[in-house]
Parts: sequence; C-alpha cells; structure tokens
Amino acid sequence: MLLVEGGRALFGEVVISGAKNSVLPILAATLLNAGESVIHNCPDLRDVSSAIEILRYLGCSVRREGGTVTVNSSGMFRCDIPQELMQKMRSSVIFLGPVLARCGKAVFSAPGGCELGPRPIDMHLSGLEQLGADIREHDGVIECSADKLTGEYIDLPFPSVGATENLMLAAVYGKGTTVISGAAREPEVEDLQNYLRACGANVYGAGTDRITVEGCEDLSDAEYRVMPDRIEAATYLCAVGACGGKVRVRSCRPSHLTAVIWPMRRAGLDIEISKNEMIVSAGRMRSPAVIRTMPYPGFPTDAMPMAMAMACICQGTSVFYEKIFENRFRHVPELMKMGADITVSDRMAAVRGVSSLHGARVECTDLRGGMAVLIAAAAAQGKSEIDCVYHIDRGYEHIERKLGLIGVSVTRRE
Ligand code: EPZ
Repeated sequence: MLLVEGGRALFGEVVISGAKNSVLPILAATLLNAGESVIHNCPDLRDVSSAIEILRYLGCSVRREGGTVTVNSSGMFRCDIPQELMQKMRSSVIFLGPVLARCGKAVFSAPGGCELGPRPIDMHLSGLEQLGADIREHDGVIECSADKLTGEYIDLPFPSVGATENLMLAAVYGKGTTVISGAAREPEVEDLQNYLRACGANVYGAGTDRITVEGCEDLSDAEYRVMPDRIEAATYLCAVGACGGKVRVRSCRPSHLTAVIWPMRRAGLDIEISKNEMIVSAGRMRSPAVIRTMPYPGFPTDAMPMAMAMACICQGTSVFYEKIFENRFRHVPELMKMGADITVSDRMAAVRGVSSLHGARVECTDLRGGMAVLIAAAAAQGKSEIDCVYHIDRGYEHIERKLGLIGVSVTRRE
C-alpha cells in the first residue's frame, strides 16, 4: 500500500530507467546465442524478476549486479514453461519464439488473459505455423514443434508488438529469409533488433512495418544497453501536468514521444526537449481535447491512463478513445472515488475537468491504471491510501523514491 499526501507541485529531476517492454523481449532473446549476454540498464522490476526466473527454470545461469544482468544460456536443458511461471507475467509468451528456435520444441500453458482483456496470441501462433511449426493446443497447454523453421513471407493483420518480436526471434535460426510485413514499429522492436545484431544476427527493418530476418547457424556472445523507457518518461509529463511545478526528466529519448508531447503542449505544458532530456513545467492547464490510442508512432495506449488522470483536473472536457485494448478503463471508477467526472461508453471515455480532486482509499487495477491513480492522488487535496501497489511495481522502478525526489509525499506500508 502507498500512503500519499497530495496537493503539492513537483520540483526537481528524475532519471528514466531502462525500458520494461524492451528488456523483456531482449532477456527472452538471450536464449538464442547459447552463450553469454551482458545486458546493461536493466530496471529493477517485478516483470524483470519473473523473466529471470523463467530463464533460470530453463537452465540458464543469470547474475544481476545493479542495473546489469548477465545471462549464460549455454546450459539450457528445458523447453517448457509451467503454468505458475506463465501466469506471473502475461508477456512471457515472448519466450515461445526463442525456445522453439533453440530447441525445436516448446511447451507452454496458454498465457492467462490479463486486466486489459483476453489478449489472445492467435497472430503469434499463426505466424509460427507459417514458419513451419506444428502447434497443438489441449487443456490450456500449447505444444509447438519444428525440426527446422523455414523462412517465410508473413503478413501480420495487426501490428502486434509481441507477435512481431516472437516471429523475429523464431526466424533467427530459420532456413532462409523471413519477411514480416505489417510489423509493429515500436522503438522496443528496434531495440530488440539491435540486440540481435550485437549477437551477429542479420536482422533489419525494425522501426518500419517491414522487418527482414536472414536465418543463420549460430550467434555470438553480446553486450547491450537497453533503451530508456518512453512510457515512464510520458508518465512524468502527465504527473507535472496534474500536479504543477517544473521537473527535469533525464536519460530519456524525446524523439520516441512525439505523439505524447504534442497533446501535452496543447494542454498547457511547457516542454523543452534536447536529445536525452526534457524540462517540463505546467502552465494553466486546459483539456488535451481528444486522444486516440494507436500503434506507434501514434499516441501509446500505455500512456492513456496517466494522461486521463491529468485530464481529470484540466479545465474543459477531454475525450479518450482506446483503440488497442478491449478493457483499458478499469482505473476509471478509482479516479471517480477521488472526485473525477468521467463517463465511459465502450472504448470511449469523456472526462470533464474538475477544479480539484480529493484523497480517497483506492486500489490499482493494473499497471498503468495504478500509475494513473497514483498521479491523481499526488494531485488531490488530502490523504490517499492506494492498495494493490504490486501492479505498479511490475513496471516502475522504486516508484516512491523517484516521486519523493520531486516533492510527492508518498510512503510505502507493507
Ligand atoms: C505490448 O503488449 C506491451 N507489452 C504492452 O505494454 C503494450 O500496451 C502493447 O504492446 C501495445 O503497445 C510488452 O511489450 C511486454 P500487442 P502486447 O500484441 O505485445 C491484440 C504495459 O503496460 N492481439 O501489440 O501484448 C491484443 O489483444 C503493457 O507495459 C491479438 O488479437 O500487445 C491487443 O488488443 C500493457 N492477437 C492488441 O492486439 C495476437 O496474437 C495489441 O496487442 C496478439 C495481439
């Protein structure tokens, strides 16, 4: 539980950590080189710990020293992931491609849905079948096998981030060339490509909607530094917009945030950007008007809940259209307990700005929804108690320390 005393403007500076959605696929990819990978700038997150647990279960040795994780995957001797490990982290499906490519077999329990909706993996599985995998599902267990995956031209019906990454990883040892058309263009996909190239793989095109993977026989050891977390950086833009003040956001990549910076400036934030940092200060905030979440380079769905928290106390009405996930408004009732005025219909939410929010006893419903509630509590007048904070710990490193450094009164109580 976090106890927050809200109502203070934010001043100071925050250093952005390595990207959760980049380090997870890269950790899965360390299975491929059957050797050593030294990964720098790894954030200290529950999801990273879950990924390390899976690597160790599969037989890898993993050492973590501060922000550096060293994986040696030469000792891998399993090709299955049991249910209790799969359930811990929905995105563990990303291990499917590399396990199959390395072992020719992969046995996984179907990943649970999550708070955001069913989150099927049909595109992952149909892509792997196109590469020649035989896939059987029974009693919630998925069995994949492929003596040798064969390069193919794969057309993704939707730019799924996970499916793009899984197919890139599955194709690395494929016979011949694989082209993924309609691929996700997220920066995290590009980071994964750059790690694979550091291992000697011949992968190119990430960041565009067409990625090519030339199959190879083996990969070398590698050392790689994970890119900064663009969603964490976006989070602090929303926090300053909600609470006021002036914060220097360091070690970030503003070029990854164009679709977020623009509506934030329109809402009244002053954002000075340079290559690796932003200085953000709140003016008189007005509603960000309309925000539609889209695949990259559009407005990221992961930043929508935090932008909504800010919109709750901007003057005027904002409308949010969630185009990626079925059920990404579960944090709305928690914001309304603090006095927010929000109307939801299907995948649209209308937010009428109120002059202030008040503290309340609330809970985190999911990772980004939990961060939205925390930002609202920091902006609210009075005390809040926020439960189920483990959701936030999945994706934000030392959250109360970072917020405390910029003036939020927040303490953790077990
Ligand atoms: C990644 O999830 C991120 N997670 C998510 O971040 C992010 O919200 C999402 O991409 C979209 O940007 C990681 O990278 C670990 P998708 P992923 O496959 O890969 C549907 C966070 O908060 N779909 O692009 O699961 C799916 O149901 C997390 O950090 C299928 O229908 O996202 C969803 O509606 C949340 N079939 C949509 O596509 C499939 O086979 C987007 O999913 C795959 C996906």
